[in-house]
Order: sequence, then structure tokens, then C-alpha cells
Amino acid sequence: MNNEYNDGIEVMVADASHEKYVDIILQTIADSAAKRGSGIVNRTHEYLAQKMRDCKAVIALAGPEKEFAGFCYIESWEHTHYVANSGLIVVEKFRKHHLATRIKQLAFTLSRLRWPKAKLFGLTSQTAVMRINHALGYRPVAFSELTNDDAFWCGCGTPGHPCCVNFDVLERSGRKYCVCTGMLYDPAEHENDPLPVQLPDEVIEKIKKLSDC
Ligand SMILES: CC(C)(COP(=O)(O)OP(=O)(O)OC[C@H]1O[C@@H](n2cnc3c(N)ncnc32)[C@H](O)[C@@H]1OP(=O)(O)O)[C@@H](O)C(=O)NCCC(=O)NCCS
Repeated sequence: MNNEYNDGIEVMVADASHEKYVDIILQTIADSAAKRGSGIVNRTHEYLAQKMRDCKAVIALAGPEKEFAGFCYIESWEHTHYVANSGLIVVEKFRKHHLATRIKQLAFTLSRLRWPKAKLFGLTSQTAVMRINHALGYRPVAFSELTNDDAFWCGCGTPGHPCCVNFDVLERSGRKYCVCTGMLYDPAEHENDPLPVQLPDEVIEKIKKLSDC
């Protein structure tokens, strides 16, 4: 899947067989956040492993050794009215070769097929992610257009436990704005747009059998 880059990196919908990569994924996310001096949404091993079992994660593996190269997972809010592709990470040595683009294209396709009516959204301060999202059809929006679900916003932190270094800004603005840009893909604005990549038939069959949660 997604092999037109011919670089030996395979980008695929993760499944239970990929649980062995969860610890390195968590470590890579934590190391990258420490290096950038940014906060992270703390996820447990079990949380990511369940995402893989539920067909809600994308993983990139490099070469015959299947070395971990990149990852992201899908979360939904307000009964799947809003869907976010979260936790995007590309291992440093694989960056700037459009690997994040490929991971996000697959997560986007998976999300669109599984929840066609959901609004897809994200919060980011990264130029690369803004470029990728923009190419997929997301547009920058005020935070008021994103989900209201407290569980989502708790990912940025709570007064007693700020996760992001900028949490105080979010709090002071009453959740109206922060350092990150909110981006939204509204399916109503893209009715006949083609999907960026194709999913393998077996993945399509699998998601058809899954409940819509
Ligand atoms: C952000 C990140 C995922 C990007 O991964 P990547 O594989 O290097 O990204 P891509 O190569 O797909 O780049 C996508 C676009 O952004 C551009 N880009 C990549 N890195 C960039 C940077 N540091 N600054 C500006 N633009 C950048 C690319 O040129 C490309 O643009 P194009 O499509 O017009 O050519 C990676 O740097 C990373 O893992 N960072 C740490 C974790 C993180 O910040 N995650 C995002 C949380 S919202």
C-alpha cells in the first residue's frame, strides 16, 4: 500500500500484530516532545494497543527489518460527530520525505470511509502538519468550530495538570484560542472529492464489520 515512493517504507493500517511497536512509539513521541520543549497528551501502552486492535491507527515500517518509522491514531468525540487524527510522529531520520503526508493521507482515508459524516479536525503548531492538512482540504478555524467535548480539551491539560507548555494561554482565553491553530475538514464542503489513497479490500471489509464507534 502507498508504495509509489519506492523507499522501502510501508504505510499501513495497524492491527494487533503491531502492538510490539507501542513502547517505541510512546518513547519516540516523548523524546520528540522533550526536544521541542512542548507538552504531550499522555497515552498509555494499552490505549495505543487498543487503537491498533480497533483499526484506528496507522503505522509506517521501514525496510526488511520493519523498523518503526512513523505513526498516528484516530480519536472520535461527541459520538463520532468529530474525528481527529492524533499523535502524529515521524522518526527523525525519516523526516522531510513526505512520510507524515503519507501517514496522514491514510488516516484521513480511513476516517472518511469509516465516519463519512464526521468533521475531521486537529490542533497544531507545526508548519508541516498545516501544509498536509491544507492539502487534504482542512481549513483554519476558530476553536469554537471544533468539538466542545471536555475530554478532547483535557488532552491539552487541566489547571492542576497542564500537559502542554502553553496550557495557561488556552485557559486564559477561555478555550477561544491558543498557540496552536485549529483546522477543520467539513465533509459537507467536499461532497464529491476523491480520497487521497486506496485502502486494501481486507481493511475495507474489516471496518465494515466494526461498530460505528
Ligand atoms: C511534523 C512531522 C510529523 C512532519 O513529518 P515529515 O515526514 O517530515 O513531514 P512531510 O515530509 O510529510 O512534510 C509535509 C510538508 O511540510 C513540509 N515540512 C516538513 N518539515 C517541515 C518543517 N520543519 N518546517 C516547515 N515545513 C516542513 C514539507 O516540505 C512538506 O511540504 P510539501 O508537501 O509542500 O513538500 C515531524 O517533523 C515530526 O514527527 N515532528 C515531531 C512530532 C510533531 O510535531 N507532530 C505533530 C503534532 S501536531
